[in-house]
Amino acid sequence: MTDETDPKPKSHGRLKISASVKPRDLMADVRVAGAWQAKIITLFPEAFPGTLGLSLTGKALDFGLWALETIDLRRFGLGKHRNVDDTPAGGGAGMVLRADVVGPALEEAMVGASPDRTEWPVVYLSPRGRPLDQAMARRFAAGQGITLLCGRFEGVDERVLFHYGIEEVSLGDFVLTGGEIAAQALLDATVRLLPNVLGNQASTEEESFSNGLLEHPQFTKPAEWNGMAIPDVLQSGHHGQIAKWRQAQSEALTKARRPDLWQAWQDKKR
Ligand SMILES: C[S@@+](CC[C@H](N)C(=O)[O-])C[C@H]1O[C@@H](n2cnc3c(N)ncnc32)[C@H](O)[C@@H]1O
Repeated sequence: MTDETDPKPKSHGRLKISASVKPRDLMADVRVAGAWQAKIITLFPEAFPGTLGLSLTGKALDFGLWALETIDLRRFGLGKHRNVDDTPAGGGAGMVLRADVVGPALEEAMVGASPDRTEWPVVYLSPRGRPLDQAMARRFAAGQGITLLCGRFEGVDERVLFHYGIEEVSLGDFVLTGGEIAAQALLDATVRLLPNVLGNQASTEEESFSNGLLEHPQFTKPAEWNGMAIPDVLQSGHHGQIAKWRQAQSEALTKARRPDLWQAWQDKKR
């Protein structure tokens, strides 16, 4: 668990979906008033919406429950070749994204975004960052929007991160080629928490991490598969017993797989 607060996403507008709603490619700028907005600075705008355009996040995008704007970093490149990077000061392998290229892109992203970072965080996806978790996604979903900076090569000139007070967020302890996949993961985790995006809001309250534990095992039909039956209790119709079984399973799984979460859970109970 983290020490982040647990803000509830605000309702950004009333959802009214009529049968005449058109698919994304026919819609110019359909947006529920005040809808949560993501601005993404990237060298690869074509990577978006990517998987975010599918299923529930894609439908929510079509219906204007959230909005996505890409800012092509190449537009801010220097010279005839629109160069965005240069060699690392002090030597070493690879290239670094220049501060005088990333800076103007960030300035453009700030237009129309709240200057209050609690309402509108500015995030650089980075393996050095704080690991993304559910509490962070809840915090992002509770604001008005987010600006994401996707790095490439060896990353971004440190001065730009310092100057704009940018928060660094990591997808995990591994190195990706660029920040785009991490940005999509962060957005997926956040957008599904926005009001009206998921059909069943209760499911976000029960799933892994929401209460500090991993989720219990799930089963569905058929009642028997490959010689394995669904546990009797789940077919008993006894809601009290089912809740008790699920809680015990959640606790056992968390204890076995995630001693860090288990410890935090124990501490919280004390
Ligand atoms: C090759 S990586 C740069 C790694 C950097 N030289 C380092 O060692 O910390 C290029 C870009 O991918 C993104 N990236 C790589 N791994 C990531 C991770 N685990 N989480 C989030 N973003 C990541 C960042 O935006 C980074 O600037």
